[in-house]
Amino acid sequence: MPSQQHELFDLSGQVALVTGAATGIGKEIAFGLARQGADIVVSDIDLDGIRSVVETIQSEGRRAIGIQCDNAEPKQIHEMFIEIDRSIGMVNILINNVGIIVRQHPEEMTVEEWEKVIKVNLTGTFLCSQEAGKRMIAAGGGGCIISISSIAGWTALGRGNFAYSVSKGAINQLTRELAVEWAKYGIRVNAILPAQVRTTYLQRLTEDPNFDADSLIHDILKGIPLNRIGEPSDIVGPVVFLASDAAAFITGALIPVDGGNTALNAGGSKDW
Ligand SMILES: NC(=O)c1ccc[n+]([C@@H]2O[C@H](COP(=O)([O-])OP(=O)(O)OC[C@H]3O[C@@H](n4cnc5c(N)ncnc54)[C@H](O)[C@@H]3O)[C@@H](O)[C@H]2O)c1
Repeated sequence: MPSQQHELFDLSGQVALVTGAATGIGKEIAFGLARQGADIVVSDIDLDGIRSVVETIQSEGRRAIGIQCDNAEPKQIHEMFIEIDRSIGMVNILINNVGIIVRQHPEEMTVEEWEKVIKVNLTGTFLCSQEAGKRMIAAGGGGCIISISSIAGWTALGRGNFAYSVSKGAINQLTRELAVEWAKYGIRVNAILPAQVRTTYLQRLTEDPNFDADSLIHDILKGIPLNRIGEPSDIVGPVVFLASDAAAFITGALIPVDGGNTALNAGGSKDW
């Protein structure tokens, strides 16, 4: 029995592309999928970061390649998928992880700031999904697409997260639409919605002289019943689960990985 359960999560023979995997959540996801047996494509704009992640995976005896690709550039995305076909084989598991924030209040936001966020977060996610989906459909063996969205796409954050939140809300709807469109091809499309996770983004905020780091963390924790900030490793288990046969009947799901944040009513309190 235990070995059968273990096999449910086995990703041997799969090729997984993780975008934005040079650091943070993407890096941990790449390591986690490699540990389950998948061959890994690490893509990012940060070439040094890509090299380091690829070397770590290879040093553990797994197959990995790195490709520098800017998610804001449709031509680079197209060429990346051709390179993946040529060098490691068709992508069976796509993790849309790239995400950027331009903090600006809606009344002040320029069209350039808006378009930057929409291009990287939303159009990049669509184009990667389209490239992967076309190949999965042609090959006829199904596949799996997981986007790292955010609780910001489910409820509003305020504080100048406007374009980011809108892009994540659209990724949630992209997830449902693709799940319905591509179910007949056996392609499962899901999204994970983290709350605050300890990566460079949070680090930049806590180091920003405009913020009092202690009160920032205190304010964040007020909304998280499990009473801690997420770690990149918290996202790995849900991704492995969704990518594996254990989730064979799950598609179109938006799964909060948020320590209970979206379960907590705004008028409620974990400290009552
Ligand atoms: N950290 C959090 O608190 C948090 C919370 C919810 C959701 N998320 C989402 O998780 C994902 C990963 O977040 P993170 O905190 O690990 O981010 P991060 O900033 O630590 O890492 C993002 C990676 O994406 C790369 N990148 C940036 N722009 C790119 C582009 N145009 N093309 C290719 N690569 C690019 C960066 O070089 C970096 O390696 C994002 O989609 C983010 O929105 C993060």
